[in-house]
Amino acid sequence: MAFELPDLPYAYDALAPYMSAETLEFHHDKHHNAYVTTGNKLAADAGMGDLSVEEVIKKSYGNNQPLFNNAAQHYNHIHFWKWMKKDGGGNKLPGALESAFASDLGGFDKFKADFTAAGVGQFGSGWAWVAVKDGKLEIMKTPNGENPLVHGAKPILGVDVWEHSYYIDYRNARPKYLEAFIDNMINWDYVLEMYEAAK
Ligand code: FE2
Repeated sequence: MAFELPDLPYAYDALAPYMSAETLEFHHDKHHNAYVTTGNKLAADAGMGDLSVEEVIKKSYGNNQPLFNNAAQHYNHIHFWKWMKKDGGGNKLPGALESAFASDLGGFDKFKADFTAAGVGQFGSGWAWVAVKDGKLEIMKTPNGENPLVHGAKPILGVDVWEHSYYIDYRNARPKYLEAFIDNMINWDYVLEMYEAAK
């Protein structure tokens, strides 16, 4: 099926001041839209135009880098918009998540430190993740458009650390952006939804 650009699940100014309308307009309308448009063209050229985005990601990984980059970034951004909400973030996790974070990630404070370190430590463009692998939560980081799906894991939370995600609002201060993401933007209900689906 052809990739489609989803609407943002909130108004462009809903995440301000932590993520501005200007950032979301460029990030969603220009960057994500380009992944969809280019991804559709490359998927059709590769005879994968009828496959789901997850199938395209797995089939193109390692053998069609341009298609992989665009398909994976489409998948990553579909979820990234839903991993944020107005008045989100903070350490009040829904019960099932709180216990999994405690047992697998050492609790919220250690998650915050390790997830931030993964995002800061990703050299250049990429993503930091919490993913389910072999039934347990793990913090991961990946370059460019790569994601946990191609490492035998299922992402339940991810943060975009490409400069297009934070440069307008934070300039080069990636740690400040990650702090705001964790403290003020994460939609824990959607993280829980992906966790339940991944188990
Ligand atoms: Fe992005």
